[in-house]
Amino acid sequence: MSRYAHIIGWGKYAPPNVVTNDDLAKKMETTDAWIRERTGIAQRHIASEKESTATMAIHAARAAIETANISPMEIDLVIVATVTPEYPFPATACLVQSALGAERAGAFDLEAGCSGFVYGLAMAAGMIRSEMYDTILVIGAETLSRILDWNDRATCVLFGDGAGAAIVRASDKPGGMMTSVLGSDGSGGDLLILPGGGARHPAGPETVLSKMHYARMNGREVYRFATRVMAEAAQIVVRRAGWSLDQIDLFIPHQANARIIESAAKSLKLAPEKIFVNLQNYGNTSAASIPIALCEAIDADRVQPGDRLVLVGFGAGLTWAACAIEWTAAKPGAPALRHRAATGRLRYLWAGLKALGWRLQRRTDATVSKVTEAVERKTPEE
Ligand code: UT7
Repeated sequence: MSRYAHIIGWGKYAPPNVVTNDDLAKKMETTDAWIRERTGIAQRHIASEKESTATMAIHAARAAIETANISPMEIDLVIVATVTPEYPFPATACLVQSALGAERAGAFDLEAGCSGFVYGLAMAAGMIRSEMYDTILVIGAETLSRILDWNDRATCVLFGDGAGAAIVRASDKPGGMMTSVLGSDGSGGDLLILPGGGARHPAGPETVLSKMHYARMNGREVYRFATRVMAEAAQIVVRRAGWSLDQIDLFIPHQANARIIESAAKSLKLAPEKIFVNLQNYGNTSAASIPIALCEAIDADRVQPGDRLVLVGFGAGLTWAACAIEWTAAKPGAPALRHRAATGRLRYLWAGLKALGWRLQRRTDATVSKVTEAVERKTPEE
C-alpha cells in the first residue's frame, strides 16, 4: 500500500512588539519610502528580552498540535529549521521536544538558511514515505534581531522575528506532499554569512570588535541569485508533480523582498491572486517566513482542500528549496481550537513539571554518587 505525507496541523507565533519603518527612521538614516519601495516591508515583529527562538517555536508548535488535534506523545520527530538557534548546542529542537512533552520524539536542528522550513518538510515527507515515522513536527523559527547590526541600515531594516510550524502525518490517502527539490551552491556562502562564533572564528573580543557576530549580506548578489532560482525551483517541482504552471492555486514564496516575488511570478506567469505575500507585516523572518505565510493564507481562506500549493525558499548557503503540496486538511472551527488550547495548557504544565522532576532527579543522583564515592575513599578496605 502507498504511503503519503499530509500536513494536518499548522501554527504561527509573532512577537507582539511591532517596529514600523518610521520607528527605524527615527534611529537611523533611512525612510519609510526607501524601505517600502526597495522591499515592500512596512513593519516587522521584534522579540522582547523574554522571547527567543525556542519560546517562539514552542508557541507555534502548540498551535500546530491544536489544529492537528493530536497529542504531543504521537510525535515521532521534531525538526527545527533555524539560523538563530537558542544555543550552538543543545539543539533548539530538544528544548521544544521537552517543553511539549513529546517524550517519544527524536529532535534535531536543521540549518539551511531561509530554505530551512521547506528542507524540513521534504525530510519529513521522505521519512514518512519510507515508513520510518508517522508523525513529524517541522518548525521554522528565528530571532534574527539578535544577530543584526542595528547600525547597518542595509541589513537591519530587512529582517524580523517569528516562528511557524506544521505537523506532517502518514496516510494511505493520495495527496499531501507530492514532491520537492533541494539545492545548494556553497560557492556563494560568503554572500550571506554570520562570520563569527563558529569553529572558523570562535567568539572572543576580536570577533566582537570586528562585528563578526552580526549577519553580513551582499544584497545585490543575493537578489540576483534569488530571482533566478525561485522560478527555476518552482518549475521543477511543478513538472515533477505532474502539474502545469496554470494549475497552481497558490504560490507561497519566501518573504524577503516583494520585487523578488514579483519577478518570480512574472517568470511563472502567475496572476497576483495566486501569490501569497505578507512580508509587509513581518519583514524577512528567514526559516519562519514560509510557515507563517502558510498559516496566514489558511486563516484568510486562501487555501482549500484540493488546492495545489507551491512553496519556494532561498537563502544563506546559498540554498534553495521548493515543494508541491496537494492540500487536504480542513480548517478547524474556533470553538474546537479554544477547547484544545485549554486542554493543551494543562498538558504543557504537566510536561514542565516532569522535566523539572527529571532535572532534580539527575542532580540528586549526582550528589548521592559523589557522597558515596567520598565515603568509599575514606573507608579503609577490610
Ligand atoms: O532571505 C534571503 C535574504 N536576502 C534577500 O533576499 C535580500 C536580497 N536583496 C535585496 O532585497 C536588495 O538588494 C536590498 C533590499 C537589500 C537592497 O536593495 P538595492 O536596490 O539592491 O539597494 P542597494 O543595496 O544597491 O543600495 C542602494 C542605495 C545605496 O546608496 P548609494 O550607494 O546608491 O548612495 C545604499 O547605501 O540605498 C542605500 N541604502 C539605504 N538607504 C536608505 C541601503 N540601505 C538603505 C536604507 N535606507 N535602509
